Amino acid sequence: MLYQKLIRPVLFQINPAHVHKAVVFAGQCMGKTALSRTIVASLYGYPHDDAEVVVDGVRYHTPVVLSAGFDPNGQLTEILRSVGFGGIEVGSVTARPCKGNSPPNETRLKRTKSILVYKGLRNEGVERVTARLLRQYRTPDFAVGVSIARTNDEAACGLPEGIEDYATSFAHIVAHDVGAWITVNISCPNTFTGELFIESENLELLLARLDGIKTDKPIYLKMPISVPDTQFVALCDIAAQHRVHGLIIGNLQKDYTHIKDGDPKPEAFRGGLSGMPCQEDSNRLLSLAHERYQKRFTLIGCGGVFSIEDAMEKFERGASLIHMITGMIYTGPSLMSDIARAYAQRYAQRR
Ligand SMILES: Cc1cc2nc3c(=O)[nH]c(=O)nc-3n(C[C@H](O)[C@H](O)[C@H](O)COP(=O)(O)O)c2cc1C
Repeated sequence: MLYQKLIRPVLFQINPAHVHKAVVFAGQCMGKTALSRTIVASLYGYPHDDAEVVVDGVRYHTPVVLSAGFDPNGQLTEILRSVGFGGIEVGSVTARPCKGNSPPNETRLKRTKSILVYKGLRNEGVERVTARLLRQYRTPDFAVGVSIARTNDEAACGLPEGIEDYATSFAHIVAHDVGAWITVNISCPNTFTGELFIESENLELLLARLDGIKTDKPIYLKMPISVPDTQFVALCDIAAQHRVHGLIIGNLQKDYTHIKDGDPKPEAFRGGLSGMPCQEDSNRLLSLAHERYQKRFTLIGCGGVFSIEDAMEKFERGASLIHMITGMIYTGPSLMSDIARAYAQRYAQRR
């Protein structure tokens, strides 16, 4: 309540990209000492171990994970357990550093309960991010995964170059043994060459290349949600023939009809929508994947979790974990522990 009545109204007066930067900076500083981690945990942490889950051999303190994109450079891994998260997906990182798209690249759509994201994979590149993750304190029972994407520059435009770009990041992460899992993000809507790998034949080539890099880490695929069901299923069928352990369902919403009156609606495509516009499609596709592939894939629900009920809906539809960002921003920092508590109450007996 304190967050929604007092803190959020102030934060929502400020440019979202500036707030984002400040929060990452503050979180990074607070993660540096045991004292500051303990103080934050006393306010927002989940102090019990009854929501702990093990998914594909990876242990999470709670089943709530910070989704890719909020912390592309891996600066928050030391603090997030103190706010109820059980893990983070760092990234998406790319083979070379990426400047990303020009501002505005994060626009808050309050009525829609969303953020219009046009960042274009701004990140420091796989080498720097990997080095940081290796340096940082490893929080017990806190899972750190890394999402990789194709570098958003001209050198990675073509199909063979794009595949090699992913392979470079993948191999670097494996060689340095960072990340408990690796996610292959094929569905970033904000690159200037488009989503090359949401076409089945291209995905086939990409996954065949990655299969050749030896690793025991679980591999996940970040799925698009703004595609016809037939295309979604075709992509899953391809993934099923390769070393893909799970599907994250899914990425940003591209359909602007979800934008509510009163919020700015760009005339041309200017980024994907997070939050509420993702909820319906990601839930529907989660159920579809559960029906068709529940024995084959681990399923991870992502998109539009603003409440305990929203999270429970994803678990009921077959998700083993929740990835989220926008709910934390709109609902506040107690949401993750609230979900963990509800999860423990509902599922503790079944495990
Ligand atoms: C600011 C921002 C940046 C994002 N960047 C990435 C990214 O780099 N890689 C990725 O896979 N998803 C990215 N996403 C998508 C989220 O990981 C997530 O799939 C989406 O926001 C839906 O979840 P939510 O409704 O809980 O925010 C980004 C989202 C936001 C809000």
